[in-house]
Amino acid sequence: MLCDGRLVAFPTETVYGLGAHALDAGAVARVFEAKQRPAFDPLIVHLDDATRLTAVTTDLPPTALALAERFWPGPLTLVLPKGDVVPPIVTSGLDTVAVRVPDHPVAHDLLARVGLPVAAPSANPFGRLSPTTAAHVVAGLGERVDLVVDGGPTTVGVESTIVDPCGERPVVLRHGAIPVEALVEVVGPVAERTSAARPAGPGQLPEHYAPSTPLRLAGGGVDAARLPAASGPDIAYLAFREAPPPGRYRAVEVLSPSGDLVEAAAALFAALHRLDASGAVLVVAEPVPDTGLGRAINDRLQRAAAGSSAGVDGR
Ligand code: TXA
Ligand code: MG
Repeated sequence: MLCDGRLVAFPTETVYGLGAHALDAGAVARVFEAKQRPAFDPLIVHLDDATRLTAVTTDLPPTALALAERFWPGPLTLVLPKGDVVPPIVTSGLDTVAVRVPDHPVAHDLLARVGLPVAAPSANPFGRLSPTTAAHVVAGLGERVDLVVDGGPTTVGVESTIVDPCGERPVVLRHGAIPVEALVEVVGPVAERTSAARPAGPGQLPEHYAPSTPLRLAGGGVDAARLPAASGPDIAYLAFREAPPPGRYRAVEVLSPSGDLVEAAAALFAALHRLDASGAVLVVAEPVPDTGLGRAINDRLQRAAAGSSAGVDGR
């Protein structure tokens, strides 16, 4: 089906991807249509093996090679100079292409068998929660995807870390499954995109990864006076390790009772999907410690909160 230009969702270690033949502009156009994704938000190209890099890129700086060697297969995406074979629709006209080699047996087998680069964004409607199960994909995209390969729940649970390794100092474009601390061990100091810089795509826009229920961050314990009109039973609560402050809630999810950020990341999107479906009018989410995978988790929560601020008080 992929070779025929159709859309196949498949598991990776991070989230499910909505795959299309990356060198077939028509197939890639169907990805944008299925997700309702704006054409200015470029896609990640997935390869079964780093040796295929030269098929889609033109120039590999030494930093890129060092990162690929250390983290591939794995949840790291590198933004590299684009080869001519990659149609502009994949990269939204940019002269760089984002590439990664996923670390998942099903993804690997699929990519190796088709023998093609596969463009795959997360398999969710644009701006919505990312899918970590095949059921999330079906619920979000339904008939708009031709086939969903069910590989069970994903293990990592947050998207890949995106790095531009081409400048003097590598730049982290999106916090994700590889913590910044691990990058620094390999390449030394890295820069992080400041919020003032122009985002390279909506994955970096504040309003992204949002549940359809409005979401607020709990600021050091929930201050009931600062919440919108929702009363206890209308609120769903996302906690990190301990039960929420006493009260009645529509639903509660605790990401990791042992306080493990890796476990919390793996649980994050499935927990948010359940809270979103609970019938609450507001989700209150606790930020987690801001180290390691906590950076990626807090990033997703902040974006979800930014995306829903408009809808809360008007309801
Ligand atoms: O873990 C992941 O990365 C998952 C799995 C399926 O691989 N994919 C994923 O794709 O999260 P998506 O499309 O949801 O997010 C990709 C992000 C976009 O927000 C886009 O801005 C950025 O990658 N991106 C893609 N190409 C880029 C480029 N040439 N320069 C800068 N950013 C780029
Ligand atoms: Mg996405």
